[in-house]
Amino acid sequence: MAITKAGVRQRAEAAIAIDAVVTEGRSLDWALARADEKLDPADRSMVRMLCFGCLRYHWQLRAQLRMLLERPLKARDSVIESLLIVGFFQLSDTRVPDHAAVSTTVDAARLLRRPKYAGLINAVLRNYMRRNISESEAQDDEARFNHPAWLIEHLRKDWPDHWQQIISANNDRAPMWLRVNGQHMTAAAYQQAHAIDGQLLPGADQALRLEKPAAVDELPGFELGHLSVQDAAAQMAAPWLLAGHPDGVVRVLDACAAPGGKTCHLLELLGADADLTAIDNDKKRLTSIQENLARLGMDATVLAADASKPGEWWNGVGFDRILLDAPCSATGVIRRHPDIKLLRRQEDIHALARRQRQMLAALWALLNPGGRLLYVTCSVLVEENEAVVGDFLSTHTDAREDRVLHDYNIRDLMYDKTPGFQVLPGTQGMDGFYFASLEKVSG
Ligand SMILES: C[S@@+](CC[C@H](N)C(=O)[O-])C[C@H]1O[C@@H](n2cnc3c(N)ncnc32)[C@H](O)[C@@H]1O
Repeated sequence: MAITKAGVRQRAEAAIAIDAVVTEGRSLDWALARADEKLDPADRSMVRMLCFGCLRYHWQLRAQLRMLLERPLKARDSVIESLLIVGFFQLSDTRVPDHAAVSTTVDAARLLRRPKYAGLINAVLRNYMRRNISESEAQDDEARFNHPAWLIEHLRKDWPDHWQQIISANNDRAPMWLRVNGQHMTAAAYQQAHAIDGQLLPGADQALRLEKPAAVDELPGFELGHLSVQDAAAQMAAPWLLAGHPDGVVRVLDACAAPGGKTCHLLELLGADADLTAIDNDKKRLTSIQENLARLGMDATVLAADASKPGEWWNGVGFDRILLDAPCSATGVIRRHPDIKLLRRQEDIHALARRQRQMLAALWALLNPGGRLLYVTCSVLVEENEAVVGDFLSTHTDAREDRVLHDYNIRDLMYDKTPGFQVLPGTQGMDGFYFASLEKVSG
């Protein structure tokens, strides 16, 4: 493998992005968007691969770095620590030949305007190989499980029999799932029509898991609105919310809608019977709902609004169905966002749970008697899931949990949490999601 300028730039940009997450607390999405501005499109996937891997195995790689550095580098040179970690990850987990990994990483120090570190990086990486450091035994749970200590403890408490399974799924790569637009065809028909290498999920007619991730806009029918990218567990929400809906026009509120994945799925299922309002309090993210609606040729009322303050925007006409896909810790989608492990703090969970409770209580008033609210999170933590719904049920006499499951053979795929059901990350390749279906009792 030739040592190219592009290869050196990829390592340097990966180190900058990782450093932005680790030391500045930026999200990986933000850091990658900034890197993309400086990179040729052809270099972006390598930078992504390096960043995802280094953040996924952050604690293990950092512990290995401590074994090899006599003392930590100065805070202003934290990017060099990230660069060394990029070097380790290449040597331990990728097919990049060792000599290429070492020389691109050493040269990246020069590109980062820190030429004085070139010698140190060269020596540390060579030591890493010579002493077989990648095989060394982890000294603590953080390095062993590649999760922060508080989250390991939290998972142990909430999932005494499954915490290791969750952690191991979190450290895997996530597959790419498609939702084939049911107004056009089933996932099976799409797969057959275009000879797509992928797997169907029995019972989930629209879900197709690709064998290999692909550029979505190159997939047949994407521009025509025949498919969207959406995890199969996320695809459970729309049919569950709509099951048994009244005949005629159904008034639906999608209360935390951006970027609109579930909004569009609801519209695909309802067709002409939809009267859907999609709100989100993040104005910038509303654009992505509009773009998705336009691509799929669908229509909804889209508002910038706060779900916990309906008094500011609701016109007083009740809804038959409300989807509350609440902002949460996203601990069920760590595979897709490994930076969550570094950015989230224990105290965030309490604050999130308080917001979730406020939203649920505020939106309940907007539901028609006989209507259904589906509470959804992509969290696996009790505090954001069954604790929120359990307290809500005990203080709202007009609410009861509907425990009838619809579509998919989901009983086999979910854990019964009473109230609610949980899909754990990794189950059939799906993300971790929690669902609780609440009915407003008439009278
Ligand atoms: C889990 S995401 C929703 C994903 C979306 N339902 C989908 O399937 O594409 C949560 C969303 O809630 C929004 N949000 C957070 N607080 C909110 C609030 N108080 N009111 C309305 N939306 C809020 C966030 O901006 C974010 O877009």
